[in-house]
Amino acid sequence: MIDVALFGAGRIGSIHAGNGARQPGVRLHYVVDVDATAAQALARQHGAQVADAERAFGDPAIAAVVIASSTDTHADLILRAAKAKKAIFCEKPVDLSLERARVCAEAVRAAGVPCMIGFQRRYDPTFASLKARIDDGEIGEPEMLVVTSRDPGAPPVDYIRRSGGIFKDMLIHDFDIFRWILADEAVSVYATGSCLTDPAIEGAGDIDATAVTIRTRRGRLAQINTIRRAAYGYDQRFEVIGAKGMLQAGNHRPTEVVLWSSGAITADKPEHFFLERYRAAYAAEMGHFFDVLGGRAKPRTSIDDGVAALALAEAATTSWREKRVIEL
Ligand SMILES: NC(=O)c1ccc[n+]([C@@H]2O[C@H](COP(=O)([O-])OP(=O)(O)OC[C@H]3O[C@@H](n4cnc5c(N)ncnc54)[C@H](O)[C@@H]3O)[C@@H](O)[C@H]2O)c1
Repeated sequence: MIDVALFGAGRIGSIHAGNGARQPGVRLHYVVDVDATAAQALARQHGAQVADAERAFGDPAIAAVVIASSTDTHADLILRAAKAKKAIFCEKPVDLSLERARVCAEAVRAAGVPCMIGFQRRYDPTFASLKARIDDGEIGEPEMLVVTSRDPGAPPVDYIRRSGGIFKDMLIHDFDIFRWILADEAVSVYATGSCLTDPAIEGAGDIDATAVTIRTRRGRLAQINTIRRAAYGYDQRFEVIGAKGMLQAGNHRPTEVVLWSSGAITADKPEHFFLERYRAAYAAEMGHFFDVLGGRAKPRTSIDDGVAALALAEAATTSWREKRVIEL
């Protein structure tokens, strides 16, 4: 039995608790949250105990921690978990500071514990299938990637103010997709952006629409376009172009029912937002984490992927602020 302590009983913590508790041989032992009511409600749902961080890290029965608390707690909890030799699953981003994220990666390496970062898009069945088909050579060597990543609406401005900015908060997933799909590293990044959907976001020092161009070591190119408000809903698509053709991956819809009427042909909009669109991906990534701990799989992501995506987010932020290409 693998006993687990979960940090953070909010939106994503609740998803991970359910997915973790469904794994055979896994027991959600502790729920830790500074919000006692949230911790109690989630612990009760899964037959777990409420504990503080000290107790969770000090209990030798705890083999793994799932860190799903607010971003500003991740680095400290990773360092404490590494010190206590617990296996780690941590939500993105590792931290808002690249320097601190690198310190965490070093601590994880020194401790020799697995540390997966929550880049769930790699586990999405559609995206994972596209990646497998690239690896099978269906389009030859991938040459260009175009990522469309649009949210249905912006989070509250108070959240945006503490988010580290759109590149670290939202595009971090797209930077991870870029590295994963092209299996290459960036040598230059140019990011531009505007505030188009809500002046309050500009008031908070951020932007809500971006266009990013990346060139890789092997000369491959990527373009990422994002906006915080797409009137028609959550839009997650990408295209990979290679010598032999193109692979496209797109949105999922709640149903595939299509109405053909005298005026138009209409179908469902894409699934509402990330909790719905990536439902299967969240379950698969948690399954993979425990497969790794059970010795049934090798980790498909590491804290280094978290650091690399953060480095791109930092480069893009500088590029946008200073209006120049960043050479890496
Ligand atoms: N991979 C994804 O798709 C995805 C989606 C959403 C959120 N996230 C990430 O997950 C994290 C949580 O996001 P959320 O949307 O669930 O936020 P949330 O605000 O719903 O939940 C965060 C919880 O952490 C708790 N918390 C704060 N400090 C704590 C501490 N020191 N110890 C324990 N708990 C503490 C809060 O009380 C809250 O209950 C963020 O880092 C976010 O970037 C990732």
